[in-house]
Amino acid sequence: MIEKEKLMLRDDALQNEVIIITGGGTGLGRSMAEGFSHLGAKVSIWGRRLDVLQKTAEEISTLTGKEVLAVACDVRNTDEIDSALAEVIKTFGTVTGLVNNAAGNFISPTERLSPRAFDIVLDIVLKGGKNCILAIGKYWIKEKIKGNVLSITTTYASTGSGYVVPSAAAKAGMLAITRSLAVEWAKYSIRFNTISPGPFPTKGAWDRLFPEAIAKRFDFTKKIPLGRVGNHHELANLASYIMSDYSSFMTGEELIIDGGEWLKGAGEFNFLDIIKPEEWDELEKIVRKAKS
Ligand code: HXC
Ligand code: NAP
Repeated sequence: MIEKEKLMLRDDALQNEVIIITGGGTGLGRSMAEGFSHLGAKVSIWGRRLDVLQKTAEEISTLTGKEVLAVACDVRNTDEIDSALAEVIKTFGTVTGLVNNAAGNFISPTERLSPRAFDIVLDIVLKGGKNCILAIGKYWIKEKIKGNVLSITTTYASTGSGYVVPSAAAKAGMLAITRSLAVEWAKYSIRFNTISPGPFPTKGAWDRLFPEAIAKRFDFTKKIPLGRVGNHHELANLASYIMSDYSSFMTGEELIIDGGEWLKGAGEFNFLDIIKPEEWDELEKIVRKAKS
């Protein structure tokens, strides 16, 4: 649950927005839905499990007093997207924003993956994202609506990562679509941005990417300079800004929110964090000797 007092924008910042969030029934999608709804948006959450979506929609509506529409939609299926979009337009009159958040992912050595296992992730993340953008984008172009697309990627969309290769490929593809259409569809006043989160605890991600057997052996908060994982309101605030008019001159961006994690991995000498402050006196002497 998002604490309303931790939201940074004005209560009415999203009051003119109708936002579809794929994968909005759980995890980060749910938190963004809650944040947007608190700020006045009409929200429709999409996913495969209608019971999960309906429960989430009811809980958010109770908290915010705003209508939240739950629609069963597998983003791999273009017919389901067309009818889900029609249902949102029938209910709310229009659509102004899309958050591509639905995902499938799990850790595995790549040589253990069957072709189908690789495809399942590409199909949900890359092709599912593309399917939603095409359907909703064409509607916006036809109706001359200033659309706004936010895709949730990850920091390894840019760097790549072993053991989640299908996800890395799919998220990199979403980043390429974002940067490409930000330019091509700017003439229709449609914006495209991505947010790349570092670790934000959710059941979906933790069960598949950081199971207990791994968490016991590896404390990944040590990889994060700020020394902690993300809080859902921190992501909801950034996403709300992107989905609001306050960010109206921003398009084609990847916004990274990871406590400095990927930079720590990238910087050649960041490993020197292991040196204790008192050890630096001795080390400095050794390094200064290099002159002689
Ligand atoms: C190897 C696996 C596997 C595993 C599934 N498969 N799990 N292969 N190792 N651990 C294979 C199966 O054997 C099958 O291939 C194929 O993948 C499809 O599996 P199904 O179980 O039939 O698919 P399905 O029921 O549709 O489930 C899809 C899913 C599942 C992606 C596998 O995990 C899911 O529903 N995920 C949705 C939510 C999710 O993933 N959330 C996490 C996002 S977090 P064969 O060939 O045997 O038929 C995230 C964070 C990133 O992205 C960054 C964190 C910092
Ligand atoms: P999550 O709770 O498992 O969310 C994934 C959602 O996608 C679920 O609600 C799922 O609902 C939906 N989904 C899966 N396949 C779908 C399909 N074919 N059609 C429609 N919906 C589908 O995990 P999360 O951690 O919140 O992840 C949300 C997003 O954040 C993902 O894009 C993920 O890659 C990204 N991310 C997360 C983290 C993190 O640390 N949590 C970090 C970086 C990026 P159904 O199963 O009901 O369909």
